[in-house]
Amino acid sequence: MIYRPIVLDEEIKFSKKKFIVSKTDLKGKIIFINKNFSEVSGYTESELIGVPHNVLRHPDMPRAVFYLVWQKLLAGNKISGVIKNLAKDGRYYWVIADFEPKRDKDGNITTLTAFRRAAPQDVIDTTEELYATMVAIEKKHGMEKSLAYLEGFLEEHNLSYDEFIAELIKPKGIIAALLSTFKKVFG
Ligand SMILES: Cc1cc2nc3c(=O)[nH]c(=O)nc-3n(C[C@H](O)[C@H](O)[C@H](O)COP(=O)(O)O)c2cc1C
Repeated sequence: MIYRPIVLDEEIKFSKKKFIVSKTDLKGKIIFINKNFSEVSGYTESELIGVPHNVLRHPDMPRAVFYLVWQKLLAGNKISGVIKNLAKDGRYYWVIADFEPKRDKDGNITTLTAFRRAAPQDVIDTTEELYATMVAIEKKHGMEKSLAYLEGFLEEHNLSYDEFIAELIKPKGIIAALLSTFKKVFG
């Protein structure tokens, strides 16, 4: 049994070399985690196996992001995202996550995998601003409207979601340029 922690405004920093992996079934129940997952999240393996992956869901995460992740995965595609996760002790940690579906030899999707790495500060800064706007929209108007907002933002920059994330997680110069565009757009 897992209890939701009290959310603390305190960040867990971890090494860039510490890759965090988990696998789920097609409903999002955790079936595998690596050692780094336990170390960073604070949960033991036995606490997590069989539990829905939303155990890590942080209230600052827009629902729309997970909607896109699930839509892509169940359609058989990979997707990346920037995620703020909630650790067992209530602290948070930011990751860049690459999600992918795994198939059996007949081509049926069997499991879903997420590879995560520490998000650099500039990635966090850009994402935080966008997500804060999306969460505020969701609270007032629901998820459809925050998806529409995200789509509008991407359209304005002539980028698909995948292109936007690819740019975002690239090195500094581009991040800096994007961030300044963001700031102009959102005033
Ligand atoms: C392979 C995989 C890994 C996931 N990893 C995370 C994660 O690290 N953090 C998280 O909040 N949700 C993760 N999710 C998404 C959750 O399943 C869930 O959609 C999300 O936490 C939102 O929860 P909710 O639908 O109850 O609002 C993952 C899903 C999959 C398929």
